[in-house]
Amino acid sequence: MIARRTLLQLGLGAGVLGTVASPALALGGARPRSAAAVPHFTRPLTVPPVLRPVRRTRDTDHYLVVVRRALAELVPGVRTEVLSYGGGLPGPTISATRGRRAAVHHVNTLADPVSAHLHGGANPVEHDGGMMDTVPRGGRRTYVYENDQSAASLWVHDHAHHVESEHVYRGLSHLYLLRDPAEDALGLPSGRYDVPLVLRDARLDERGRLVYELDDAEQRSTVLVNGRAWPYLDVAARKYRLRLVNASNLRTFVLALSDGAPLQVIASDGGLLERPFPTPVVVVSPGERVEVVADFSGYAPGTQLVLANMTGPGPMDQVGEVLRFHVGAPAPDDSRVPEVLRALPPLPEPTVRREFVLSMDEPGTGHAGHGGHGAEGRSGTINGRTFDPARIDTRVRWGTTEHWTVTNAGATVPHNFHLHLAQFRLLTRDGRPVDPTEAGEKDTVLLFPGQTVTLQATFDTHRGVYPYHCHLVDHAAMGMTGQLEVV
Ligand code: C2O
Ligand code: CU
Repeated sequence: MIARRTLLQLGLGAGVLGTVASPALALGGARPRSAAAVPHFTRPLTVPPVLRPVRRTRDTDHYLVVVRRALAELVPGVRTEVLSYGGGLPGPTISATRGRRAAVHHVNTLADPVSAHLHGGANPVEHDGGMMDTVPRGGRRTYVYENDQSAASLWVHDHAHHVESEHVYRGLSHLYLLRDPAEDALGLPSGRYDVPLVLRDARLDERGRLVYELDDAEQRSTVLVNGRAWPYLDVAARKYRLRLVNASNLRTFVLALSDGAPLQVIASDGGLLERPFPTPVVVVSPGERVEVVADFSGYAPGTQLVLANMTGPGPMDQVGEVLRFHVGAPAPDDSRVPEVLRALPPLPEPTVRREFVLSMDEPGTGHAGHGGHGAEGRSGTINGRTFDPARIDTRVRWGTTEHWTVTNAGATVPHNFHLHLAQFRLLTRDGRPVDPTEAGEKDTVLLFPGQTVTLQATFDTHRGVYPYHCHLVDHAAMGMTGQLEVV
């Protein structure tokens, strides 16, 4: 069992502790059946296929992505219409290599404008897939990524202003795994033992159609992993690298194995940590990535372990379960988790200090998602202002390192803070040094109600206008976005 104290040590505030339900860990009990009940752990996990380049030149891989409607079997026996980058939910994975360029040619066959933002990437503005820089119906666009940054689990999602929330919800995202030969040489679990787990939730109606209603977290109670509801994964009794990616619009996952065994956290948003860090609880908010090594070698064949989610909103018999591991026979394992994973970039002395305050209308008891009614008229702000594409909120001089204090001024609603262009480094959470799992390169940070973090970022790559925003995508769509210009 996970002690409340462990959660407190992780700096998780009352917002999450208030909803931690121990029944989520007391597995095996009878699950109430309802018409909408989808059986848990009856289908194997699938992994999105790796997209093959349509052309390879000396230094560039060319890809073709058709943005289109597609059908996906999110729950058994039901075909659900989704929006997709190239088919499937999530779309196929781009596997890129550091130092080798990728040119991704998009064709938009949807009626709406779309973009493709490489989340976590440091790219010139014209390849950032910004909110106002969209591809119209029938339009084409090539995004070029130099991949001149640390290996990391990046992901691509739509960012078209005003429609991104519904588009991402309906499926417009895919993984973009940036690899590096130096990282491969570490000997971490690889190949079929390196498994991405894209986590999200969904609300399906009785016919299996995706229902989108703004800020409707509570009713999005079907948990999908790589696009399937509550799958199982057959694992050999050995080590696995699991890349946890939260592609939800609103849901934060507080994950633990059902026996409380520790997971070794090895990487965060921007790539490897300096050192692995064992923890029984892993928190992943929308947009964040956490990579862990799970070691199944100590379990007898036949053991079943649930990856549980310890927080709502939503019914815990549904949202409290994510995936089940079925442990099989031991398999040879020459992988290792080195004590030092890499040297993180230096932390230059910041010369500019700024504050960012996130806040949102919180009507009534107001927890995001309670019913969702009236969300349409609500707004979210950063420093008191909603998004205005014509306004630059923050001007940064190229080459500068800045120190930012970011506060969630809300009483009930969690937010997070995502910055384009730069990976930042978290310094403190509520005045205390951050947990080692948060001390690596980050582009998104979770803030429970009332929390404050400090971070520093160095803007020494590209110039231009980039957004920062809450990555609870519905909140971003409610205006919780600002713009920074690097000049
Ligand atoms: Cu994941 Cu502004 O984006
Ligand atoms: Cu928010």
